[in-house]
Amino acid sequence: MSKLKLGIVGAGFVANFHTRAITQVRSIEIDGVTAIKGAEALSDIVKKHHLGKGTVYANVAEMAKHVDAIAVYVPNFARLEIVEQIVDAVKQGAQLKGVICEKPLGRNVKEARRLVELADEVGLKTAYFENQIFMKPVQAQLKQLAPQQKTMGPLALTRSSEEHGGPHEAWFWDPTRQGGGVLCDMGCHSIAVGWYALTPIGKPITFLEPVSISAETALLKWGLPAWREKLLNERGVDYSKTPAEDFTTGIVTFRNPETGQLVKAQFTDSWMFEKQGLRLFMDGMGPGYAFEVNTLQSSLQIFIGDVAAEATADAEIALEKSTASRGLLAVQHNEADLYGYTDENEEAAAAFLAGRDGYLPWSYGLEITKLVMAGYMAAERKQTIDLIDPEIQGELETYIPLIQQGKGAEVLF
Ligand SMILES: NC(=O)c1ccc[n+]([C@@H]2O[C@H](COP(=O)([O-])OP(=O)(O)OC[C@H]3O[C@@H](n4cnc5c(N)ncnc54)[C@H](O)[C@@H]3O)[C@@H](O)[C@H]2O)c1
Repeated sequence: MSKLKLGIVGAGFVANFHTRAITQVRSIEIDGVTAIKGAEALSDIVKKHHLGKGTVYANVAEMAKHVDAIAVYVPNFARLEIVEQIVDAVKQGAQLKGVICEKPLGRNVKEARRLVELADEVGLKTAYFENQIFMKPVQAQLKQLAPQQKTMGPLALTRSSEEHGGPHEAWFWDPTRQGGGVLCDMGCHSIAVGWYALTPIGKPITFLEPVSISAETALLKWGLPAWREKLLNERGVDYSKTPAEDFTTGIVTFRNPETGQLVKAQFTDSWMFEKQGLRLFMDGMGPGYAFEVNTLQSSLQIFIGDVAAEATADAEIALEKSTASRGLLAVQHNEADLYGYTDENEEAAAAFLAGRDGYLPWSYGLEITKLVMAGYMAAERKQTIDLIDPEIQGELETYIPLIQQGKGAEVLF
């Protein structure tokens, strides 16, 4: 079986998560790593698990000569610069088959569109990594409910949410570097998976046409004095000056172009979730059938009493963004697989090896960025945004939310 030789840019949280996933993927070798910080440590993991050569390269240009595809796992503010380096490398003769980018594709439509254009310029195949679409529970409900969908009709409502207590690195909290708060960071997941679950089986990923969006953004926890101070001390971000939203909710309405039926995807995302750790929740309602996914309901629970709590070295082992290390804990023993990282890697490798785009190309990531930006627009204007209005579509091309501009106080206070 031929394997895709992958080079990874960035060696932080998500690069490590993907590496864990790739221990379960037979079609990828991690042959290169380059990052400002963490490349050696990631390379050690690659070598320890025999996942590929794991050579540490000084930069993208060097790495591009030795791999088939590059995965961009750098922070949002560094995306464009890295993709420009990849495209330059191809122009210099690097034989790359494809390029992968983590969510969100861009901090705004202009940035996301530029990324799509750059890859097109040199004919690079693309994969936009939206792991939640590849989640096994999401895929399994589709298979299980296919007969119901066929006889009764498609889903009419989905509700999706991703919530935890707040991100692990300072740059996520800074709306100018990240692109906003939780709507930009996690709203992109919930909007994507909601849209996907509503899509009738067998139809293309953008078959349902986005018609309108309403949304709210709010700063409910991290703007309070004690939490603001903690954020300032621990992350160096001052939410009295440049706040970002820690809560968002909204509804996207879609139209089925064949039947005219209107269906809705409701999303809720927060960085103020006070439970055991990360929770992904999705449900869907069809005529006479439904599904529900809740990643905090695990088949494994463990209990750690106070006397034994000191022995727990690392709460994060139990669950991403764990908030407790004692009591009754939900444990996910294979998070990389549960969250869809395994299958999205497998799919991208198969696509690039066959000379095609991934199931979710960057052009799809651009559509998600548009919806996220329209969400900010709706919250800022306190209006439902008409997504078929050509004027709005034009505005979205250059729209930068106030929160992303560092002017969140005008919206959130
Ligand atoms: N799918 C998911 O659920 C998920 C989860 C976490 C992060 N992400 C996405 O992954 C991306 C990375 O997030 P993270 O949590 O791994 O961030 P991180 O801060 O933990 O790691 C970033 C890595 O990139 C490196 N880096 C920064 N600038 C660089 C540059 N110019 N050149 C080379 N390396 C550079 C850093 O040194 C570090 O190794 C983000 O876009 C984020 O949105 C997705």
